[in-house]
Amino acid sequence: MDSNTPQPPAWWRDAVIYQVYIRSFADGSGDGTGDLAGLRARLGHLADLGVDALWITPWYVSPQVDAGYDVADYRAIDPVFGTLDEADAFLAEAHAHGLRVLVDLVPNHTSDQHPWFREALAAGPGSAARGRYHFRPGRGAAGELPPNNWPSVFGGPAWTRVADGEWYLHLFAAAQPDLNWDVSEVREEFASVLRFWLDRGVDGFRIDVAHGLTKDPAYPDIEVGATGLLGAAADEHHPYFDRDATLEIYREWRRIADSYPGERTFVAEAWVSSPDRLARYLAPGLLHTAFNFGLLDCPWEAPRLREVVEQTLRVLAPVDAPPTWVLSNHDVIRHVTRYGRAETSLDDAKRLYGTPSDPELGTRRARAAALLTLGLPGGAYVYQGEELGLEEVEDLPADVLQDPNRFWSGGCGPVRDGCRVPLPWSGHTAPFGFSPDGAAGEPWLPQPAAWKDRSAAAQLADPASVLTLYRTALAVRRGCDDLGEGDLVWLPAAEEVLAFRRGRRTAVVVNTGADPVPLPEHAAVLLASGPLDGPLLPGDTAVWLSL
Ligand code: GLC
Repeated sequence: MDSNTPQPPAWWRDAVIYQVYIRSFADGSGDGTGDLAGLRARLGHLADLGVDALWITPWYVSPQVDAGYDVADYRAIDPVFGTLDEADAFLAEAHAHGLRVLVDLVPNHTSDQHPWFREALAAGPGSAARGRYHFRPGRGAAGELPPNNWPSVFGGPAWTRVADGEWYLHLFAAAQPDLNWDVSEVREEFASVLRFWLDRGVDGFRIDVAHGLTKDPAYPDIEVGATGLLGAAADEHHPYFDRDATLEIYREWRRIADSYPGERTFVAEAWVSSPDRLARYLAPGLLHTAFNFGLLDCPWEAPRLREVVEQTLRVLAPVDAPPTWVLSNHDVIRHVTRYGRAETSLDDAKRLYGTPSDPELGTRRARAAALLTLGLPGGAYVYQGEELGLEEVEDLPADVLQDPNRFWSGGCGPVRDGCRVPLPWSGHTAPFGFSPDGAAGEPWLPQPAAWKDRSAAAQLADPASVLTLYRTALAVRRGCDDLGEGDLVWLPAAEEVLAFRRGRRTAVVVNTGADPVPLPEHAAVLLASGPLDGPLLPGDTAVWLSL
């Protein structure tokens, strides 16, 4: 090709990526847990939805203490989800549907059932096997105190003592020992794991806890309150989160990805203290994209939302990385419920079961938020069930909860099971098509009876459903050159309103207030998140306009 011919933008620069939380997506085997067979059978839903790619949460062999984020074998599929042959078949089928696939890579820690950790326990203090993890002597006269005061993200100390008296580090559950990334064998192993999946044809990786990995070898105490949501580092001199040394690891990973044909990409899950810190991961030669949690964290208020958008665009421009927009994922409360509350920011302390939430208000705002995120420059993530307008399930009985977060915080911390309930596909009673008819197993978490009206089948037939809105929005976005990557120019608007132009003739207007506002002059309405009131845009409604 002539080098002057303009190249189409790389797919990942404005991709809409659907998060498949595999255990809750679709169950093909009938045991009540989602799996590859279920996912393969439902690929049509995802292709018809109109997303560009899928991110599959960990499907590797795992004791499932933290829903697969505790990996015992990085090169094999957990039998609960299927086999490696099925994963290969799934990759081929997804590609045939035009869907790219990112897999989840969990490099910060292994499972305590990983052969390396078992070997470390058996080998004893001072051994090379222990060197792959962070084993330390304790403090106190008899080493009875943890080596330092680092807390686990899931509550309690980040250290557990083993029979011979040494302690090992686990920033998450005790079943998730942290790897020592200063050891070259650890680096070599993950380079090889990357190649294993790249060779099988994956289009990229979501990097779990990408802000973790390296630790200050002096293991200094931290100040109380130095971490926040899912371990976001509160300052830049943190001994285990967001360290410069971690970024260097990604330089090598990028070289590996770039050595493969096609655009193989990375997205970092990095909970850091500011967008400026996040941009460091996306410097030339490092990662392609990172989850931008700004909107997931932001109250439903135009000035605050605008601040997030402006700040994101400002910090990413110098590194030439496209923004991503995220409203929900498997770690936080579903945004329909968040937006229906009096407090619409993601404040963990307020994430208590039973806090009142108005589902109608929450849904109206979530619909508007969908047009906001899909109308912004760059890419967006859709967390499974978001396209069905699912709310957080807040009344799960205590005996079905599985999130280790809950047990580790003594039952008073945030619970992540409520956003992980298996999807409703069809029918009038549970399991709503999640498992095959007559399946022996019940869904691993019970589905609310009211989900009969939220099933994909019920919504497909309804032009006013959330599913129809997502399908239409994704189709319009795909057909509109102005959306996706490109400039954003703010338009004059009232305090409660976000209004911006995309490209030459498309505008996005979002009214976060309660009262209707006049629409700017336009040639046509491309799509609205709810009924318009003549020339007025009602409260909690968004619109895409052709100018
Ligand atoms: C990430 C995952 C979360 C998991 C944690 C530990 O934050 O999204 O689900 O518990 O890492 O691996």
